Amino acid sequence: MRYDIVIRNGTIIDGTGQPSVQADVGVRGDRIVAVGSLSGEASQAIDAADHVVAPGFIDVHSHDDFALLDRPLCDFKILQGVTTEVIGNCGFGAAPANDAYRNFLRGFGPLLFGPMGDFSWETTAEFYHALESRPAAVNVACLIPHAAVRYGVLSDEKREPTAQDIERMQALVQEGMDAGAAGMSTGLFYAPGRYAQTEEVIALAKVVAEYNGVYATHMRDEADHLLDSIQETIRIGEESGAGVQISHHKAMGRTNWGKVRDSLALVEQAQARGLDISSDAYPYTAGSTTLAALVQGGVIERAAPSDVLIASTPVQHEYEGKTLEDICQLTGKSLQQTVAELIAGEGESTVAVIFGMDEADVRRVLAHPTTMIGSDGIPSVAGKPHPRLYGTFACVLGKYVRDIQLLTLEEAVHRMTGLPAQKFRLRDRGLICDGSYADLVIFDPQTVADIGTYQEPRRHPPGIHSVIVNGTVTIEQGRHRGTCNGRLLRHDAAGI
Ligand code: ZN
Ligand code: CU
Repeated sequence: MRYDIVIRNGTIIDGTGQPSVQADVGVRGDRIVAVGSLSGEASQAIDAADHVVAPGFIDVHSHDDFALLDRPLCDFKILQGVTTEVIGNCGFGAAPANDAYRNFLRGFGPLLFGPMGDFSWETTAEFYHALESRPAAVNVACLIPHAAVRYGVLSDEKREPTAQDIERMQALVQEGMDAGAAGMSTGLFYAPGRYAQTEEVIALAKVVAEYNGVYATHMRDEADHLLDSIQETIRIGEESGAGVQISHHKAMGRTNWGKVRDSLALVEQAQARGLDISSDAYPYTAGSTTLAALVQGGVIERAAPSDVLIASTPVQHEYEGKTLEDICQLTGKSLQQTVAELIAGEGESTVAVIFGMDEADVRRVLAHPTTMIGSDGIPSVAGKPHPRLYGTFACVLGKYVRDIQLLTLEEAVHRMTGLPAQKFRLRDRGLICDGSYADLVIFDPQTVADIGTYQEPRRHPPGIHSVIVNGTVTIEQGRHRGTCNGRLLRHDAAGI
């Protein structure tokens, strides 16, 4: 047999969670065609001795909606081994888009999403066409963002939708699912998601359920009312029939530490009743979002000023990397005044990093067998983004697998590959087996690590040797070859 690529002598971790095996992997075209002891000729041979060969990682929680078009090399993702991302999270994304939504997003979007380009499409299908006509280095699956759907019908009105409005919103969700979305996301913590009653979300998730899609949610409250939010999420899943993904499952704020024991228990009870519900998480004790959202959500007033770091701000670049405490000291102004000045005007898009989680909780969530890995990376071109953008997957493999042994390597890889592929119905992805797409990562389990810091977050992780996307070597010996061979993965309603 002749191969385009043979990867020899690697330790294969196939994404199912099964123990590793020593084997070669043969690739022809865009598929894996053989796994075993392979003797055939190959146009290209990669020696993977002392390295792990795994399915490319799936970042189930990405905000690269515009970055995929603006910076299609996606170096920050692919250099950590990611070959597929799920965009459209937290209720925000690029389509559908009317003028009202475009204005809304342009206000705070650039520092969250990076440059937003011409942003001229209207329907979900048109946006997907844009993604397809300008492929990125990684594959992409998409969620329909609730904020876009709400703006599409209610514009910026903060009211409850009428029955007719709901029907029009359902039609937008249907248009997105028909175009190939994997599901819908909400950000019930943020405006305009926060104005939606549970019933509105159920009505929309019902459309998602008809297509076997996923309902992913940044819940209403991840702090004092975490458990109520989990209950609401479960109710949405049970009443709509959609599979549920809890985004960045966590308990924020010192007084809530430990609550993930209960939130995970609620998830398990729902699973036992038959609900398809799972979570994702990033492996850090700090979160990151806009400063304005933290103020609006009442988070800032309860956080210690030393726990809030400015990641990027158009107001004063020299504040980037400094805490609110540092800035108050620098200016001699009160905390209230400092924050007010930071979010005024174009400061609407100031992004903060907030240290609010307990390491023990982070470990509890990561250790849970149905937790996937999602970076929640904010792909800003300015400032100092949360290091999760560059380091999430390397951090799990380095710190949580090798250093503290919270997970076995096989388990961690499963949660980054086979499990999310199954959840989001990414057909023939996430596994190393005959017939699977050749999305592969070759890494050194001894050296892979997240070396980014909150002060210097833009560092690519060491130990990622090669990354193959749809049969094309995109990262070779740690270097990006400039290839963009990613695909839009349209949802497969029939399942895998
Ligand atoms: Zn979120
Ligand atoms: Cu997010």
